[in-house]
Amino acid sequence: MSLEDGLQALCDASAVEEDTPVRAELGGEAYAVFLVEGAFYVTQDLCTHGPGSLAEGFVEGCEIECPFHQGKFDIRTGAPTAAPCTEALRTWEARVVDGKVCINPVEGRKAA
Ligand code: FES
Repeated sequence: MSLEDGLQALCDASAVEEDTPVRAELGGEAYAVFLVEGAFYVTQDLCTHGPGSLAEGFVEGCEIECPFHQGKFDIRTGAPTAAPCTEALRTWEARVVDGKVCINPVEGRKAA
């Protein structure tokens, strides 16, 4: 599915719940889609510390806890918030179009 402004759909917005992120693949990359306090956020799915899938982790407020070694990141910025994670996640601005959570894949950013 191709949308204006380079946006591409990751998943149905209705599939994402506050405590249940969704893993989505696009162009060979895996993303994790989150809903926090009514707003959608998208990060890379793969933990920067190892093989953990963040979409399978545990949401605690604005943080995601990796299921592998229990490191944490701020879902909104991708910044690491608990050891052993030290490297930020890439994040994308999430927009909802026609009921789908969309991103522009080339506009990923990384917290300093
Ligand atoms: S793989 Fe995520 S904390 Fe180690």
